[in-house]
Amino acid sequence: MEKRRILVTSALPNANGSIHLGHLMEHIQTDIWIRFQRMRGHECIYVCADDTHGTATMLRAEELGITPEKLIEEVNAEHRSDFNGFMISHDNYYSTHSEENKALSEQIYNRLVEAKQIKTRSVDQLYDPEKEMFLADRFIVGTCPKCKTEGQYGDNCEACGATYDATDLINPVSKLSGATPVLKESTHYFFALSNFTDFLTKWTRSGTLQVQVTNKLSEWLDAGLQDWDISRDAPYFGFEIPGAPGKYFYVWLDAPIGYMAAFQKHCEANDLIFDDFWKKDSTCEVHHFIGKDIINFHALFWPAMLDTAGYRTPTRVHAHGFATINGLKMSKSRGTFINARTYLDHLDPEYLRYYFAAKMSGGVDDLDINLDDFVQRVNSDVVGKVVNIASRCAGFINKQFDGQLAPTSDNPILAEFSSASDDIALHYENSDYGKALRDIMALADKANQYIDEHKPWVLIKEEDKRHLVQQVCSDGLNFYRLLVTYLKPVLPRLAEKSEAFLGIAPLVWGDLDTRLTGHTINKFKPLMTRIEPEKVAAIVNASMAAEEPAVIAEPESPTIEFDDFAKVDLRIVKIVKAEHVEGADKLLQLTLDLGDDTTRNVFAGIKAAYNPENLVGKLTVMVANLAPRKMKFGMSEGMVLAAGPGGEEIYLLEPDNGAHPGMKVS
Ligand code: MSP
Ligand code: ZN
Repeated sequence: MEKRRILVTSALPNANGSIHLGHLMEHIQTDIWIRFQRMRGHECIYVCADDTHGTATMLRAEELGITPEKLIEEVNAEHRSDFNGFMISHDNYYSTHSEENKALSEQIYNRLVEAKQIKTRSVDQLYDPEKEMFLADRFIVGTCPKCKTEGQYGDNCEACGATYDATDLINPVSKLSGATPVLKESTHYFFALSNFTDFLTKWTRSGTLQVQVTNKLSEWLDAGLQDWDISRDAPYFGFEIPGAPGKYFYVWLDAPIGYMAAFQKHCEANDLIFDDFWKKDSTCEVHHFIGKDIINFHALFWPAMLDTAGYRTPTRVHAHGFATINGLKMSKSRGTFINARTYLDHLDPEYLRYYFAAKMSGGVDDLDINLDDFVQRVNSDVVGKVVNIASRCAGFINKQFDGQLAPTSDNPILAEFSSASDDIALHYENSDYGKALRDIMALADKANQYIDEHKPWVLIKEEDKRHLVQQVCSDGLNFYRLLVTYLKPVLPRLAEKSEAFLGIAPLVWGDLDTRLTGHTINKFKPLMTRIEPEKVAAIVNASMAAEEPAVIAEPESPTIEFDDFAKVDLRIVKIVKAEHVEGADKLLQLTLDLGDDTTRNVFAGIKAAYNPENLVGKLTVMVANLAPRKMKFGMSEGMVLAAGPGGEEIYLLEPDNGAHPGMKVS
């Protein structure tokens, strides 16, 4: 097998918040892939960094009364220790606020200028005269120009789904100071992405992306590419643009260059040559693992920039979906916005590594962490099936045979174990860890079955069968050794403990062809214990305590007469279909069954709180006689009832057991 030289990255976590289960999903996916490659004997370098620049860091530091530099330094220490806790094997975890990144960002920008791919244009933008800064859409609120709902953000309306420019809002207010923003003109710098349509059409179809991702991108490419605004005006925490005082690189320009900078720093300390990996036509590989929300940055802007600046483009971009918990988006009020540290305070990180792996397929679908399933799955697979083999066999070998394994081991089931290696390797290579683990657990079942059939605990009672006990248990430990080799990318600590107990060198993929014979093992120590469900409950509690939802005391509405209320026709309905709406940030499209063979189409602003798949089949309450309303995305024929202030804190009403579609609510 030819030795591959591979550079791998995970997306750079933002420096204004803590590492949470979503980030971990990505880093665990990446880390498993890397550990697998290293076990196969390839050179595999893993770099990452904090993404430090931008308005968010600046404002967060201001809020805390510290400098942005101080903030990002503290956050960096926290992030490193969180990732360490989950055994994420970064070779360098750096920062985008580094000398290397500044130099590389300037170099790449200058090359884009030389290639005449940077343009300037004057832009009118809302400006906060008190804070003396331009305002991004998320910092402006006002009244929707269409439906007149108050408190809507600068780009779209949560109530009616309309999209508009911040300048169209009625009575706009700056969220930062409360001042009324004014229009102000400023020169912005643009990367001429529209010149790259042909290049990107080819590149996105060259096998670098998953099929679903290529298809999504070809929709964007067909719609036409816009030039990309890469400058921000002071005050901004970032790198000043060369030759443009007061203008800074937009954070997304220097962020991916941060991958290169982190690698460059690693090269200096390890005698590696940066250009080996980054020059055009390099035979080394570069792989990015990212979430589906940042595909455009990695599969459009990034390859276009790299190619123009004279660098190679990525070998592969591996995009993944989002982690949800118990079918819902992670939410602070439900206690499911779980930070890495909160988890580590209560549970062994390998449980989570295993569970994520078991549910990963290498696709872009969302991944649901069902907390009951998590406990059940880890306990039954890892503890019940795998670790159990070692504890069943080691006792006999240690106590009855002085730790000595049988002199030979040619059990045909072991040959079966070894011959599974190509399939399992392929699943790891494709990030289809779910399939890899299913194959591995099927082998574990075989091993347990073998031990059950040969009953060493019965054989040991007959003096002339003693050697059989040694053989069965030695085979058992050989099964275990091979299982642990297969599981090592996912469970590195279990592997390490097992290597110590078996008294062997660190396991690599090549060890799958050998057997442990005539060898003396060490005393057995418990390798992994079961998850106690109370620990999971404690994590949810601790995550809830961290941030109590603010319950806003809404003033009670004026009294109405019963007749007024009776005008509202409330019905139980069943959600038979729930889908995302192309282009809508807040809405889901629901098909509601009213029980009499009629269905209604309703747009509901609940996207931030619900994963559509989990809504199908649920009963809820709707206003059935609300006049239909024409929305940007189609006709909405009614309204579903939900409580809460909005965003991810919105809770659909559900009737008690026994209610059925069509029932009138009164
Ligand atoms: N700073 C940018 C990335 C720059 S890369 C040059 C960013 N940061 S982030 O902190 O918001 O997200 C980092 C990564 O975590 C992204 O790949 C994102 O998709 C991923 N996730 C954040 N929340 C997630 C889930 N709930 N589930 C899975 N991954 C998610 O984007
Ligand atoms: Zn509106």
